[in-house]
Amino acid sequence: MEIITAVRGFKDILPEETGRWQFIEAKARDVFASFGFREIRIPILEKTDLFKRGIGETTDIVEKEMYTFLDRGEEYLTLRPEATASVIRAYLEHNLYAADPVAKLYTIGPMFRRERPQKGRYRQFHQIDVELLGLDNPRIDAEIILMLIHFLKSVGLPEPGLEINSLGCFSCRPSFRKAMTDFLKGKEDQLCGDCQRRLHTNPLRVFDCKNEPCSGIIADAPQLPDFVCDRCRDHFKNVQESLNVFGLSFMINPRMVRGLDYYTKTTFEVTTDFLGAQNAIVGGGRYDGLVKELGGPDIPGIGFAIGCERLLAMIPVKNESFSAKPDLFIAALGDESQQLAFRLCNHFRMSGILTEMDYLGKSLKSQMKRADKFQCAYTLILGEKELRERKAELRNMRQGTQETIGLDGIEETILKFVRAR
Ligand code: HAM
Repeated sequence: MEIITAVRGFKDILPEETGRWQFIEAKARDVFASFGFREIRIPILEKTDLFKRGIGETTDIVEKEMYTFLDRGEEYLTLRPEATASVIRAYLEHNLYAADPVAKLYTIGPMFRRERPQKGRYRQFHQIDVELLGLDNPRIDAEIILMLIHFLKSVGLPEPGLEINSLGCFSCRPSFRKAMTDFLKGKEDQLCGDCQRRLHTNPLRVFDCKNEPCSGIIADAPQLPDFVCDRCRDHFKNVQESLNVFGLSFMINPRMVRGLDYYTKTTFEVTTDFLGAQNAIVGGGRYDGLVKELGGPDIPGIGFAIGCERLLAMIPVKNESFSAKPDLFIAALGDESQQLAFRLCNHFRMSGILTEMDYLGKSLKSQMKRADKFQCAYTLILGEKELRERKAELRNMRQGTQETIGLDGIEETILKFVRAR
């Protein structure tokens, strides 16, 4: 019978890879904690309306990429394509803002988008997501970017390429929208089907279009930073000055519009050349109208999400550095020795010593081979003859030396050896 394979674009993370995952997750928790962020865990499934309202009806994500289904004919549910909308939903549902107007939150987990799978792009992927609610000071924008870059460097990404932009606010964006509509007028026929539609609903999205005719056309399009109001311009200038305080290098990319509709003012991405077209490892920005849009008070916010698969593809940490090698292997011959090995093995494990043994009753030679394969520090050999003499052999696998030890008090003797190394 054929085996049933995983769904296309859904990937297993195998034991030899999970060490690297745990490494970046632990580093994220450490770094975020020292900046005052706390973890929030949110469901994977949400009501579809949350994302429609939060991300925007005319974005690629909502139009084409969501895993949505009608739950037993009752209501539409969606596997979360991102975490921001869900974090804010939880923040509002539990009145977190009543306890403290400032909330610094992070969450780590899988997201789902039905995109065309390719290198660095999956249908289930993982994000480390950070959200800060309740502050609209430009220093906060710089602080959150500083935390991000500090984290990326601490996991071994040498020179994260930071790009920033300002998308303006609800008062200055309409003039840009008009300029875009005017610019695209007459070019309608050359745009792809999606963009022809978006021209009337959301012309900003044409910037985000991955189809060739559109990306060529927008090369000469008006640029957002030329249309922002004085307040947004000042905000952006202050963000840059605050980034300079920490010597953070950045590039202003006036064409970066981000793929979600909720952004206002500062947006940013960390990009890399290595992944071909999928060059953003991190995306984020300010979203001062989103909390209100989702039914809450007028509370500003800013955040970012790191794509774990893309980050891991970029950092040099080796899988091998995370595969733990046993401290001890117990090779046992004969029933009685096996019984003793079984008892000792689990005793050592409960003392925190990584111990392995052979349960198959194989020859001493094949058990020693297995100990070698595991690259154990020590092998304890329990032979039938040795057992009768109430002795055992302890072999130091690295040095190739061996010594005889007595069975009485063997637990303490071995703990002493293993712990001394
Ligand atoms: P985003 O730019 O859509 O932003 O995604 C953030 C990161 O998730 C991307 O830079 C990329 O590394 C990763 N990513 C996205 N789609 C895929 C995929 N199909 N396969 C692999 N990795 C992927 C957001 O999701 C916003 N919620 C970020 C944010 C938080 N803004 C404010 N707060």
